[in-house]
Amino acid sequence: MQAMTSQIISPDVLHRTTTAKVGSLDDFAENTMKMAKVGEHTVAVIRTSKGVYALDNACPHEGYGLVTGVLGLDAMGEPAVTCQWHNWKFRVEDGVCTLGQEDVACYPVTVAPDGAIEVSVTTPSVAEQRNRLWPSLRRGIESDYTGQVARDSIRLLASDATPAEIMWEGVKLGAAKNEYGPGHEVALAADCLHLAELWQGDDRALPLVQGLAGIAEESRGYPARPIPSAKHAATDFAKAVEDEDYIGAMAWVVAAIERGDSPAQLRSEFITAVSRHHIGYGHGAIYTQKAFELLDRVGWSNAPDLLPHLVLPVSGGTREDTLPYMRKAMRALETVDTEALALAPDRRETGWEPSALVPELLTAEEAPIEIAVRAIHDGAGIEGLLDAVSLAVSERLLRYDLSIEADVADGFGWLDITHGLTYARAARWAWQADPGPHTARLALFTAWLAFDTGRAERRNGIAHPSEPSGPVAEALTGNVDEVADSLARAAMDDRGGSFIVVAHLVKTVQAAREEAAFTGSALPLAAAARFVEAPRKERFVARSVAESLDFVKTGKPPRR
Ligand code: FES
Repeated sequence: MQAMTSQIISPDVLHRTTTAKVGSLDDFAENTMKMAKVGEHTVAVIRTSKGVYALDNACPHEGYGLVTGVLGLDAMGEPAVTCQWHNWKFRVEDGVCTLGQEDVACYPVTVAPDGAIEVSVTTPSVAEQRNRLWPSLRRGIESDYTGQVARDSIRLLASDATPAEIMWEGVKLGAAKNEYGPGHEVALAADCLHLAELWQGDDRALPLVQGLAGIAEESRGYPARPIPSAKHAATDFAKAVEDEDYIGAMAWVVAAIERGDSPAQLRSEFITAVSRHHIGYGHGAIYTQKAFELLDRVGWSNAPDLLPHLVLPVSGGTREDTLPYMRKAMRALETVDTEALALAPDRRETGWEPSALVPELLTAEEAPIEIAVRAIHDGAGIEGLLDAVSLAVSERLLRYDLSIEADVADGFGWLDITHGLTYARAARWAWQADPGPHTARLALFTAWLAFDTGRAERRNGIAHPSEPSGPVAEALTGNVDEVADSLARAAMDDRGGSFIVVAHLVKTVQAAREEAAFTGSALPLAAAARFVEAPRKERFVARSVAESLDFVKTGKPPRR
């Protein structure tokens, strides 16, 4: 059996076999191995008591030579080669990896009656190479083997697979397996795919692998969630979502896709659902935006692998508008005529400027629903309100007191504040895709979040931003695309630490890039630059212990 080849081939290489004599039996004592050339290939020729074998000499891990390793027996008593560099082990007879992540290519050997040994190396065609790599990539993602995911992604790029094809392989696995449905890992995958398509050549590999690694980390070990058939569809999607009837709502999505509902129809259904509530600090809207953006990139025919699962975070996310801290804002919001709000002229027609509204949003003592409504009618329109919210939450990021981030007892920090910007971006996407009273309501929720992300400021006294310097100053004066690109690279260079931080870094930079374009201001990029550069909490273990001590020992819930 020939195992997975580890070689990267040029796309123009066709299926080709090279055969060469590599010695004779007299040259090989039993249980020895030697390196030999077969055309351009270097192979490890191995003789055991069972016969003569040939493996690719390059260890599939990092390429060190197998002949520098050790030939012995595996746990089953079968001949095996150990690559000494990191102890991966390969069965001699077929190259199967018995300790490590990837098999090594195994080539056919013939021994003539006179003892001459010949090895045949077949270079697969590009199509064959790709067909072999997809299952290998899936195994790497399912096992959360970042190295294997990186190697296979790079091999697939070299075999002419597109970034969208590669990322989608991970997304469809992760969407089905993530315990709570598509989440931060799908949002990260959407933004990383955007970067992989924006960048060229080898630069595409890092965003691709960051996206896939996030999926692998979040979904490892969970079983794939079955998708119900259309016959279980609820009659009313909105009601099923509201009732947390996951099966009925998922099946409704399946039925809608099967009967040919358009992308715009499905998008409208999900946007309506996430506009009804303020879900999980904005996550419901953010995940919906990212899921539909992904489908725009990979094609609507892939919708059945993602959209039914999106029901989970939309239907099951915390409905913060039902909690005490939003009660007052909700009373104000329920009196608003959102039909009239949605018809208010846009700031692009009225020339309205957001500069006066930003300080009002920042200094409001209570959730600024009335302030937002007044501004919309005064000429902001929904887009103008979103401009002001974007700029206000960017100011919040710039004035965040970093000493709070180091306070284990304070559960509120960087990652929460960034939601002000990413939520505003998601609300703008929803409004532009599906303008109406429901998305006007979603815009008002972003005004509430602009207020709530000031919690730390109000608790600790507002720390005004210091004079911009370093990357923040550069972001304010530099070329928007260049600044956004360098921030995206920094967000992915592993300084972020844990997956959840990398996910927030990347989506904040992406939202900042887009909001800078919509608002015409560099402030969102400056805010993202400060977030990328600053120290951050990364794991939350100490915080969980502090909160659990309070709760378990005194019955006190965490301070909000
Ligand atoms: S290079 Fe062979 S195990 Fe790492």
